[in-house]
Amino acid sequence: MSHATGRLTVLHISDVHATGGDLLYERVDGARRLRAVGDYVRQTGITPEAVVVTGDLVQRGHGGAYGAVQEALDELENAAGVPVLTVIGNHDDPERARELRGHARGHCREVRVDDLRFLLLDSSTGELGSAQIAWVRDALRTPYGSGTVIALHHPPLGSPMPTLARAGLRDADALLEAAAGGDVRAILAGHFHHAIAATLGGIPVSVAPSLAYHQVMDAGPDRVSGHDSAMFSLVHLVPDGVSATSVSLESPAPLFTSPIDPKNQMGNHDHAA
Ligand SMILES: [Fe+2]
Repeated sequence: MSHATGRLTVLHISDVHATGGDLLYERVDGARRLRAVGDYVRQTGITPEAVVVTGDLVQRGHGGAYGAVQEALDELENAAGVPVLTVIGNHDDPERARELRGHARGHCREVRVDDLRFLLLDSSTGELGSAQIAWVRDALRTPYGSGTVIALHHPPLGSPMPTLARAGLRDADALLEAAAGGDVRAILAGHFHHAIAATLGGIPVSVAPSLAYHQVMDAGPDRVSGHDSAMFSLVHLVPDGVSATSVSLESPAPLFTSPIDPKNQMGNHDHAA
């Protein structure tokens, strides 16, 4: 836990796109990649407050994969030692996704982890709808502990990519209006398969990259393309704001490896940042 430093960490994963049977695009094994995030947590020793997965847990038509996804989420939960919280996305099957822990009675819920409150929303249709918006507004009438994190699949803004410019949450304005004036520390989303950092109505918004594949950012005005890059995000809630760091699950061979004096990180190293 990082309460002593005032920095709360949310490990933010999105767009797993797990499949049953054949691998996605013959390369992507979503459940295996979830386990690999657990390996990362163990190896680095990070101590998040919670893990949040913002939807597209399975590839469309692969509802049979939810069992394997839940097993992998359980292993990740063991590795991280904190709850793994999930929301569903447009690829998910709202009925079969009820197999997921916490989803039996529906996909919109509030979970409190210590003194952080998570509002987990269902935007699987591309919008939240008036009932969920009213629920968010009502929940935020009462502040809670260190504040609230809203998690949903569709970002409340468009992508800079022309093909995804209108793929954000359809009722984004209503969500932002409902969240205004509340104790929302951050809105976490996914869907675009590339990271975005934004501030909307004074609320930090962090869109995580995808664990399955990353957008080719220059694919052109009329097509999308994906390359095999598994990434997630480390979101830090700091006293006056939010930082989000994209982390790649696999890295190419390093160009160099050079020791850094921990007491002199700002020094004039040849190879430091
Ligand atoms: Fe996705």
